[in-house]
Amino acid sequence: MKKFLLSMAALGLVAAQGIAWGGDAETADVCIDCHELEEFKGMDAAALAAGVEKGNADNKMMAKALADVSPEDLQAVIDHIAAEANK
Ligand code: HEC
Repeated sequence: MKKFLLSMAALGLVAAQGIAWGGDAETADVCIDCHELEEFKGMDAAALAAGVEKGNADNKMMAKALADVSPEDLQAVIDHIAAEANK
């Protein structure tokens, strides 16, 4: 898990904005670089996953940003965001 967080942090495009959400802030930064957590309010993990697919298909910038994120990591990020956005 530590390795995952580091790899997300190293993703480069994640401008270190230091948005702090408790302990696992880095996990979601890959999305929050371009999105607000508020945007995802009301979306569960399945809806987010579908949204990410659509975002990747429609938007080159997003697809490029997520190209290096493995499906496992992406799912972890999605689960995390779904939990955070619906607190
Ligand atoms: C490089 C910037 C960037 C990153 C990083 C990024 N996105 Fe996006 N995303 C966009 C843009 C631009 C759009 C299209 C405009 C919009 O809907 O805001 C978009 C669209 C979306 C949509 C709406 C798709 C639709 O049309 O229904 C969702 C959901 C989404 N992104 C989720 C995510 C999640 C979750 C992550 C992290 C895993 C992420 N995005 C990472 C830029 C980004």
